[in-house]
Amino acid sequence: VIDIRALYGKTGKFTYDPGFMSTAACRSTITYIDGDKGELLYRGYPIEQLAVNCDFLETCYLLLKGELPNATQKSEFVNKVTRHTMVHEQMSRFFQGFRRDAHPMAVLVGTVGALSAFYHDSLDINNPEHREISAIRLIAKLPTLVAMAYKYTVGQPFVYPRNDLSYTANFMRMMFATPCEEYKVNDVLVRAMDRIFILHADHEQNASTSTVRLAGSSGANPFACIASGIACLWGPAHGGANEACLEMLEDIQAQGGVAKIGEFIAKVKDKNSSVKLMGFGHRVYKNYDPRAKLMRETCHEVLGELGLQDDPLFKLAMALEKIALEDDYFVSRKLYPNVDFYSGIVQRAIGIPTELFTAIFALARTVGWIAQWNEMISDPEQKIGRPRQLFTGETQRDVKPLHQR
Ligand code: ACO
Repeated sequence: VIDIRALYGKTGKFTYDPGFMSTAACRSTITYIDGDKGELLYRGYPIEQLAVNCDFLETCYLLLKGELPNATQKSEFVNKVTRHTMVHEQMSRFFQGFRRDAHPMAVLVGTVGALSAFYHDSLDINNPEHREISAIRLIAKLPTLVAMAYKYTVGQPFVYPRNDLSYTANFMRMMFATPCEEYKVNDVLVRAMDRIFILHADHEQNASTSTVRLAGSSGANPFACIASGIACLWGPAHGGANEACLEMLEDIQAQGGVAKIGEFIAKVKDKNSSVKLMGFGHRVYKNYDPRAKLMRETCHEVLGELGLQDDPLFKLAMALEKIALEDDYFVSRKLYPNVDFYSGIVQRAIGIPTELFTAIFALARTVGWIAQWNEMISDPEQKIGRPRQLFTGETQRDVKPLHQR
């Protein structure tokens, strides 16, 4: 706590808390995390139970409305989402403006932000019906946009949504079907992808969610707010970690695999190196991330289904986890695997290219961002987000004319 008299000659105090280590910026009823116990609840329900008993759209309903749907509510919600999976045909021309080798997250920031240019009819944030239709549009269109970003990169024609398929099967078909070959739905792989979506759906006030809330606090429209969340998620310390983690595993594998883990860990522990064990550590979890456990199980299921039980990267990841969890550096700092440690291996096995991992995270997190944005808009205590600063620059001085400087 800083006494601001010395700084500004005014009375009062504020907290100086870089990284918001101990500052709550809002009240929320959506997601609860007990980082010491390694517990994650969406609206009170343990993530382990949701991952086994619910699908992603049920989880979306829960996050948005506070309760799990009954059969009628679920069917109405699924119908609403399904009716909005198409994007405007002009959007496909918008894609043509990007370089083919652009990162999918760069494309997603642009295309999601651009949705606000297509939906002028529903941008009144004080109108609950507008908020609801925007939420449905975002949840419905994100899989279409992510799949389009992928198809554009590989130079294949876009695949339009097929609304007789489930949300997740439809996404996988838009990713993998080609004009020459229809996508054969594999229930184990679809279930694995659906679980990835559930595990990433919300995580209380992480950096991207806080970004969405901050952007939304000025009254910005939801499409613009979600685009700002996507931009923040892209960073390697946040959503970009799954991509960075797989690259790290591939790198160790290329250098010799399991035999090289010791050397790699020594680099991570060296204070003069900036190497981190990607997919390890978390600001809130000081215990095993419950999502990482579920992801490891999913990894077994997917590799078993595809006959890849001997996948060298999976073996490497398990050996790396074991060594790190017995090493005093990681034990003393309470560093455990986070959700990103195994999710890259699962996605790679399914056929998702590494550079699309973070875009898939964004697809899944969109519902969490919207639920949090909605909660903020509906909160009577809501104010524009405006952090203070601890000013350490020059105090007042006079400008010298150019010739005297
Ligand atoms: N590898 C090696 N050392 C680490 C790691 C890691 N992955 N994570 C933290 N540490 C060390 C830090 O160097 C620091 O050591 P010190 O006390 O000797 O200085 C100590 O552990 C505490 O770490 P902080 O950086 O203070 O922890 P913070 O809460 O700020 O960071 C973060 C959390 C960003 C997730 C960090 O653990 C990290 O960079 N991990 C790797 C990237 C990653 O996997 N991100 C995904 C997060 S989950 C998600 O976004 C879905």
